Amino acid sequence: MKMRKNIVAGNWKMNLTPAEGVALINEIATFNPAISGNNQVVFCAPFTHLSEVNKAVASWGNAKVLVGAQNCYYQPSGAYTGEISLDMLMACGVSAVIIGHSERRLYFAESNELLRLKVDAILAKQLMPIFCCGEPLEIRNANTQNEYVAAQLQESIFHLNAAEIIKVVIAYEPIWAIGTGVTASTQQAQDMHAFIRSLLADKYGADVANEITILYGGSCNAANAKELFSQADVDGGLIGGAALKAESFVAIINAMNG
Ligand code: 13P
Repeated sequence: MKMRKNIVAGNWKMNLTPAEGVALINEIATFNPAISGNNQVVFCAPFTHLSEVNKAVASWGNAKVLVGAQNCYYQPSGAYTGEISLDMLMACGVSAVIIGHSERRLYFAESNELLRLKVDAILAKQLMPIFCCGEPLEIRNANTQNEYVAAQLQESIFHLNAAEIIKVVIAYEPIWAIGTGVTASTQQAQDMHAFIRSLLADKYGADVANEITILYGGSCNAANAKELFSQADVDGGLIGGAALKAESFVAIINAMNG
């Protein structure tokens, strides 16, 4: 039996006002989606929304529903204008942090080296890093996606020891599938997830690899979530556009394998 967690995480990106975010969570809660067993749901909201989102999640009253941030800085405090520390996030009720989203790599020049520092800082605070990886279209077209993703993992998270890496959630998000309406086929998703798990098994052993949650992201929606999540190595999703509407997000939550 599969012991690792299934997770559906909504990445709101730079969308919704705080009030709209709270209304969305309240609406989702009224559907009372089943979040049982090893399943968790995470709402990854903009920094400015986190305190209000945390209150809405608390009033939902389901311990398997968590609040996440979309980024953090790794330094504990200091002269880093515009940045947000992990202590600040924790004070807002955050328990998970997305790092290395392709949009941050592309628009804000985040490197594998910077992400290595971020993952260390997140784990030091006992929070859940959701580490994103994934290849651009030209790499997929050249059929070198495995090498590309392997380098992302090796340079940002493979310095961790087994006890640490087991706490990392990996999100595979092929860039060509993000916000494009083009989803990786279930076979493409499963193949990459199995490849990532094989890299983890080679370095940390099969038992550790089998504990690590690997999410799929990229045009995952209410219509395709069930099939994607039915794949042996796909343990849920990191959802963009479809996380912004209650009906679609609830359907995706309900598609999680219980
Ligand atoms: P979409 O679901 O909108 O394609 O976005 C995926 C994503 O980037 C989640 O982090």
